[in-house]
Amino acid sequence: MKKLKIECHINAFESLDELPKNIQELMHNAHVARLKAHAPYSNFLVGAALELSNGEIISGNNQENAAYPSGLCAERTAVFYAHSKYPNETILRMAISAGSTYKKTSTPIPPCGGCRQALMEYETLQDTPIELYFMGTEGPIAHSASIENILPLIFDKSVL
Ligand code: THU
Repeated sequence: MKKLKIECHINAFESLDELPKNIQELMHNAHVARLKAHAPYSNFLVGAALELSNGEIISGNNQENAAYPSGLCAERTAVFYAHSKYPNETILRMAISAGSTYKKTSTPIPPCGGCRQALMEYETLQDTPIELYFMGTEGPIAHSASIENILPLIFDKSVL
């Protein structure tokens, strides 16, 4: 038997002040998007903002539905719209802001597995990493240099 170890590298920043202006701006867009989320069932609001190579910032938020599985996460709302509108642009980075309306969310909230898989589709397609910055509604910010970094054992088109 052979044991394999998979590493995931995350950079942690104590505050947005430690990050460059363009990242602060992107996270600001994610915060603004979060406040417009439609999340009456979970009361957990998520905003995602992504920056494209043409300079456009596309944001989205979670859209819940009375038929629960019909809802969609913020990250997928944003990335599906971005790729449907600008199929030839590269996605440079995404910022995510997430939190409950009941309690403080001050730890970084990473994208769910389904969103990692959806984001990975575009990272594979464009063949350049999509950087990710994620946080709660306040507190530290986590950074991953790519989606691949947070999605080990990927299922992708190479196996089809
Ligand atoms: N949610 C997101 O928008 N993104 C994620 O990556 C995780 C979860 C949403 C889905 C649902 O509306 C709420 O958060 C609670 O799960």
